[in-house]
Amino acid sequence: MKILVTGGAGFIGSNFIYLLLEKEPESEIVCLDALTYAGNMNTLKKAQENPHFRFIYGDIADDVVIERLFDQEHFDVVVNFAAESHVDRSIVDPTIFVKTNVLGTQILLNACWKRQIRFHQVSTDEVYGELPLDRPDLSFDENFVIRPSSPYSASKAGADHLCLAYFRTFHTPVTISRCSNNYGPYQFPEKLIPLMILRAQANESLPVYGDGKNVRDWLHVRDHCEAIYLILKKGTLGEVYNIGGNNEHSNLNMVKMILKQLNKSESLIQFVEDRLGHDLRYAINAQKIRKELGWVPKVEFEQGIKETISWYLDHASWCQSILTQAYFKENERYRLESLQK
Ligand SMILES: NC(=O)c1ccc[n+]([C@@H]2O[C@H](COP(=O)([O-])OP(=O)(O)OC[C@H]3O[C@@H](n4cnc5c(N)ncnc54)[C@H](O)[C@@H]3O)[C@@H](O)[C@H]2O)c1
Repeated sequence: MKILVTGGAGFIGSNFIYLLLEKEPESEIVCLDALTYAGNMNTLKKAQENPHFRFIYGDIADDVVIERLFDQEHFDVVVNFAAESHVDRSIVDPTIFVKTNVLGTQILLNACWKRQIRFHQVSTDEVYGELPLDRPDLSFDENFVIRPSSPYSASKAGADHLCLAYFRTFHTPVTISRCSNNYGPYQFPEKLIPLMILRAQANESLPVYGDGKNVRDWLHVRDHCEAIYLILKKGTLGEVYNIGGNNEHSNLNMVKMILKQLNKSESLIQFVEDRLGHDLRYAINAQKIRKELGWVPKVEFEQGIKETISWYLDHASWCQSILTQAYFKENERYRLESLQK
């Protein structure tokens, strides 16, 4: 089997590639990635030692590149992780989010439709919008109304609708998964957990939005990847599967937990002006994937977060390289954009 993983140089995509190399030793795994600030070849160093793995540089939103690639390679399965993924960045510059997340997904869908290739879209619980803090009884199931708050989540919701439209209209064999917040190795250190670990370790202030009461439902990236693998094997075409571990923590509690593990003072916490349109709470109801596909998260949170903290401390050179490369890539992007003006 030949499997295309888009966005595989990023956080979850790279973890998925490592899972595939373990579970599918006979398959050919191809990663397509545009290596934005969030993508890093250091993350795929070990994968590149495996003869069943190949990396191809390319943009999912470039239809010429995608059509040529799909003509050359005969993929059996496409799993789309490629995305602009940071809510804060989508507030500053929404355009690239629409280009990659909506147009890029549509271009991949088109390529899969023409060749009847199995397509899986990696989506997010953020498409459902927010839940109130005072209704712990509420959670998102797959039929919950889609009401995204940020340009990021709106672009992901747009992509989800396109996937379902391609299934209904063209019978393209698609599935969608909507997962809660992930933690684990290889996450770009702009996201809450790695950012707080690295700043706390360096005794820098830890910026917490608003009053820090916003709640997220955390799942280890390995459990997310296992769930996607299961959907590819056993999922029903045209269906959406929510993925989450019933593991809710406020941002403030998460930061305090990290400080405690690192033996650092809570005085490092600095409350900053709240994010625009900040969602209060996400909570996933994952009964469908549990009941229908038998998925169960395996990583216990206390252990998983401990290992994650150690991973970032033990991989200081990876953190440094991804941050430095991102800095130069962004400078280059601004330079090219200003030349085009
Ligand atoms: N991180 C989370 O907690 C979380 C939770 C649920 C769902 N998701 C979804 O999972 C997917 C992966 O998220 P992540 O956290 O690994 O993101 P990430 O930002 O770490 O990685 C994204 C990857 O996509 C690549 N990419 C970006 N634009 C591209 C383009 N136009 N063409 C090809 N490659 C491109 C980047 O170079 C990078 O390697 C996203 O679709 C995201 O919406 C993430």
